[in-house]
Amino acid sequence: MSATPSFQLGPLETRHEAPCAEALAVSFATSVEAMPAWWEMAGRENLRAVTLGEDWQACLLQIPMGQWFGGRSVPMIGVAGVAVPPENRGTGVATWMMRQFIQEKHREQWPISTLYPSTWSLYRRAGYEIAGSYFRYTLRLRDLPLQPRKPSLRPFQPEDQTGLEAAYRKRAKHRNGFLDRGSYVWQRVREHRGKPRHGFLLDNGKDIQGSIFYYQIQKPDFFWNMELSDFTATSAESACRMLSFLAQHQTMGGEVEFFSGPHEPMLDLLAHRVFESQLFEYWMVRMVHLPKAMESRGWPLGLKTDLQFQIEDDLIGENNGTFRLQISGGEGRWTAGGEGRIQISAPNLAPLYTGFHSATSLAQHGRLQASPEDLALLDAAFAGPPPGMADMF
Ligand SMILES: CC(C)(COP(=O)(O)OP(=O)(O)OC[C@H]1O[C@@H](n2cnc3c(N)ncnc32)[C@H](O)[C@@H]1OP(=O)(O)O)[C@@H](O)C(=O)NCCC(=O)NCCS
Repeated sequence: MSATPSFQLGPLETRHEAPCAEALAVSFATSVEAMPAWWEMAGRENLRAVTLGEDWQACLLQIPMGQWFGGRSVPMIGVAGVAVPPENRGTGVATWMMRQFIQEKHREQWPISTLYPSTWSLYRRAGYEIAGSYFRYTLRLRDLPLQPRKPSLRPFQPEDQTGLEAAYRKRAKHRNGFLDRGSYVWQRVREHRGKPRHGFLLDNGKDIQGSIFYYQIQKPDFFWNMELSDFTATSAESACRMLSFLAQHQTMGGEVEFFSGPHEPMLDLLAHRVFESQLFEYWMVRMVHLPKAMESRGWPLGLKTDLQFQIEDDLIGENNGTFRLQISGGEGRWTAGGEGRIQISAPNLAPLYTGFHSATSLAQHGRLQASPEDLALLDAAFAGPPPGMADMF
């Protein structure tokens, strides 16, 4: 890894837009022409670029949003569009960019950063670890129940956005790892490559109880498959109706595909396992600012404890040392000091934080050292539903 100090991380300058668009297009098999619209949607200020002297070297897109942990939305900076032009690869520029980016986000006090990795080793060098999963569910529409047929759904209108977000939040709040979607992800929910998706809402006149957004993939035989970007229900009753609404597409529709965490509670309502589920991708998390990360998430209400950590972080100086996490009344307080009884690195803290691995499991694999008593307390503190996500970004 060569970490030359002559690299600079900053905004994407106009004169570098053409080579950057070229590198993104070749990296993600898309067109150069599609780039300006994508940058507008994401906000040009969110493009970070690496330069070496006059030359552009690499870029990434930061996506400000949140992620739910313990019933609270933790501010999270997502990363996408990491690209190095093919002729520059293997020089260490991506490693330098990611490490620099994380230090910048620490200064800005972002609690955590999350991304979908195309290679684990690159992001591990910036302190990210595997911390949650993204599952694909597929099923035949004909295998879904056609009942109940009421109440009716209605098409989504732009003025429904606030109600739509409230319904999604109800579903996502208690699902560790689900995104607190920002404008970038919401736009991807409503549109597929610039084309609006079909959106329908279950609305009782007071609030929205269910939503679905999809686009159709034409098959050679005139029938089509559906890909959902949103499938929300706020109660068991509305989940039954959302499933039967999907079933009502079965005369022309073949299969439906959607994404969620490792378990999707809506599917428990079916009489049989008529669906396939498959791990599509893992996501990685970087613990960026420890006090903000520990104090912004929710903790088990009935638990009162004092956990004493010793943390190592090769990238962020302030994350090193001994710290106490005091949990009480569902709140966490992170302060310097204590006996450092629980030894763990900042990267290994990520799968503990999300609930991807228990403390006991991390200890078994040599990624955490603690007494049996502290392990039991850690397992209780970080327990929760297995971390998953319903969106790719
Ligand atoms: C992935 C990518 C950004 C890496 O850029 P880079 O500047 O070559 O990366 P670095 O030189 O800093 O390499 C860091 C480490 O990442 C891993 N890595 C880099 N390229 C890799 C590849 N093609 N396959 C597997 N691992 C790779 C290696 O572990 C590498 O370390 P090593 O060279 O000591 O083995 C670049 O190959 C790229 O733009 N690819 C296409 C788009 C993409 O995959 N973006 C990431 C989306 S999450």
